[in-house]
Amino acid sequence: MQIIRSTPEMRAIRQDWRRDGDKVVLVPTMGALHDGHLSLVARARDWLREQGGGRVVTSIFVNPTQFGPNEDLDRYPRDEAGDLAKLTAVGCDAVFLPQVADMYRPGAQTHVEVASLGRMLMGRLRPGHFRGVATVVTKLFNLVQPDAATFGEKDYQQLTLIRRMVVDLDIPVTILAVPTMREPDGLAMSSRNQRLTPEDRAAAPVLARALDRGAALIVQGAGVARARRAIRETLRAEPRADIRSIDIRNADDLSRVTDATRPVVILLAVRFGDVLLIDQRVAHP
Ligand code: PAF
Repeated sequence: MQIIRSTPEMRAIRQDWRRDGDKVVLVPTMGALHDGHLSLVARARDWLREQGGGRVVTSIFVNPTQFGPNEDLDRYPRDEAGDLAKLTAVGCDAVFLPQVADMYRPGAQTHVEVASLGRMLMGRLRPGHFRGVATVVTKLFNLVQPDAATFGEKDYQQLTLIRRMVVDLDIPVTILAVPTMREPDGLAMSSRNQRLTPEDRAAAPVLARALDRGAALIVQGAGVARARRAIRETLRAEPRADIRSIDIRNADDLSRVTDATRPVVILLAVRFGDVLLIDQRVAHP
């Protein structure tokens, strides 16, 4: 596996791959890799197989601009040696590990902002977060120049926003959505799970139970209001769960819905101690 640590090196290697006619899929991550990330690499590999071959590049970059002043940038888990071993084991071709100083040069003043999608929902809870995400993903796309890139459905608002961004800015990258990987008890895999206390870890699968209940009601045609009430009731039964938001939105563009006549997505944000967990489920009425 090639290890690329600087942006000039990334550009030079990309030129070589282009000369060889190789297609490239980018798997953008912030490291602390778990099986959910490795499923993104597997999806990238499958897509390349359908296209006749190419290279999978995983980027590992804990992007400071998507963390707010009181968020967990310093405590975000980092495990470079472990990440490289996992990526080697799944046959990733290259890993791109840029430095903060390389990505954000002094005097930088250009950002990418996806207006409404970036301010709603998690954007309200984390002001500036999606501006940081959209900016770094655009920079990674410019540096790696992938043909496709994978994003997990777990971060559903991020996925929707990146899809919108590539259309709006005519970025020639195919976005591949990958379903959420779950622990056997239903908890969505996340790098943040490592920071849960044992008690909070035991309580956290309540998110998946609440989603199951809400989605079942939507599928039965019980309506959005009833599904929301049932989700709240399920979460409230778990005293460790501090509910930050429960939203049911149009699954395509995250607009508000009063009734579930089209596919909807249920989006949850719940704190356990100081760890904010999110989860989602698409439900077809
Ligand atoms: O989903 C993530 O890990 C990050 O938001 C991403 C897409 C790598 C951008 O920093």
